Amino acid sequence: MKQAAFSQRTPHDVAMRVFIRTYGCQMNVYDSARMVDALRPHGFVAAENSQDADLIILNTCHIREKAAEKVYSELGTIRRLKAAKAERGGRMIVAVAGCVAQAEGAEIMRRAPCVDLVIGPQSYHRLPQLIAQALRGRAGLLDTSFPIDPKFDQLPEADAPEGVTAFLTVQEGCDKFCSFCVVPYTRGAEYSRPVAQILAEARNFVHGGVREITLLGQNVNAYHGEGPDGEEWCLGALIRSLAVLPGLDRIRYTTSHPRDVDDELIAAHREVPKLMPFLHLPVQSGSDRILTMMNRRYTADDYRRIVDRLRSARRDLALSSDLIVGYPGETDDDFQATLDLVEEIGFAQAFSFKYSPRPGTPAASAPAQVSDEVKSARLAALQLLLAKHRREFNEACVGRVLPVLFEKPGRHEGQLVGRSPYLQSVHVAAKPSLVGQIIPALISGAGANSLSGSLAAPVSE
Ligand code: SAH
Ligand code: SF4
Ligand code: F3S
Repeated sequence: MKQAAFSQRTPHDVAMRVFIRTYGCQMNVYDSARMVDALRPHGFVAAENSQDADLIILNTCHIREKAAEKVYSELGTIRRLKAAKAERGGRMIVAVAGCVAQAEGAEIMRRAPCVDLVIGPQSYHRLPQLIAQALRGRAGLLDTSFPIDPKFDQLPEADAPEGVTAFLTVQEGCDKFCSFCVVPYTRGAEYSRPVAQILAEARNFVHGGVREITLLGQNVNAYHGEGPDGEEWCLGALIRSLAVLPGLDRIRYTTSHPRDVDDELIAAHREVPKLMPFLHLPVQSGSDRILTMMNRRYTADDYRRIVDRLRSARRDLALSSDLIVGYPGETDDDFQATLDLVEEIGFAQAFSFKYSPRPGTPAASAPAQVSDEVKSARLAALQLLLAKHRREFNEACVGRVLPVLFEKPGRHEGQLVGRSPYLQSVHVAAKPSLVGQIIPALISGAGANSLSGSLAAPVSE
């Protein structure tokens, strides 16, 4: 795609403004940044708001019904913005990307005619070309193919993000086909990026000021990318090779599947100090009957054993999880088994959801759907327990000194906010010059979602 394709769009050679609204998981956050990277050489700059953007991209999520529906209500607002801009003689291109784009394709343009183009997550390298076509007046542009050459090989090099923490996608797609989940359909088969490509991107990020990288994948611990030696490397090996990068101080990864927690990953938790002691390991349910129906392919006891092994490798490992209530056929006893497992593990934090039937997935047509009333009651009971554990975990940090990576100014004057090793937000009175530094903080207060404290040692600047 040559820049010439855009030559007519900027009569006064003014940069075009692109506004991207991102929904869903961190992989979408990463992808949105990559879309900006792909458009920048073609004269686009990121816009702060959608008001008079020249291009609006909705990077969407299809995981639950509510997530998908948000897109259509947002498109209602955008239709009005686009019409208002047209009245002023301006032009706005509207694109829908992400998992709703992949799942619903041309249906989006039928439901929302203000949409000029629909592009699936595997086709972002084609975005400049499609936008050029839209600017030339072509309507109904759609690309939801799964190209043979991975998009990562065709997108321009990722620019370092502005902050001190960054997401870096190392793996994409999923072959697990849990019976409730759309991801294998929207993101396609598992693909792992080569180690060299990841290391180059990580080095570039660190050079730009990043101190913490979170490796991303729909199933990040199923990572099996090609190593520089031509062999397949697992996630544990990738983490070790990143850990030697000077200037990179913290490594995290998400989201993991319990089935893919292997010995090398556990050993990395034992031996790599830069690997943070916090792991998001979704269990979904504590009932073996439900886990089987979900096609998760582990039992609640398997999960307990994995957690035991991880905790013996890294004593202070804090765990997080995803849980679904009201999966079709879930009885009171099944739900009780989930509460029991949660009580036993004691998650530092967790996300919990009502089961949401997704078109095309096996569970959506299961006969024994659970009523919304029961789902709501179970979700409330589960969230009460999870909130109790989160509070207990946070309160147990009071009185401890934790290393905090300061990320940005806090809500109050003279305050910075950063993260503990366990991913808690920590608010501390500190000078702006400490952003990007890891400094011990004495924790003195714990709320439901964050900690507060003070610098534990005098800081020289
Ligand atoms: N790959 C990750 C999860 C990706 S989706 C894993 O295997 O754990 C994020 C979370 O959304 C899932 O863990 C699950 O808890 C939830 N989720 C997915 N599909 C859902 C559905 N149909 N209804 C409710 N929650 C769902
Ligand atoms: Fe969805 Fe299961 Fe794949 Fe996770 S492992 S993305 S829940 S199909
Ligand atoms: Fe949503 Fe797609 Fe991520 S469905 S959770 S944006 S992979």
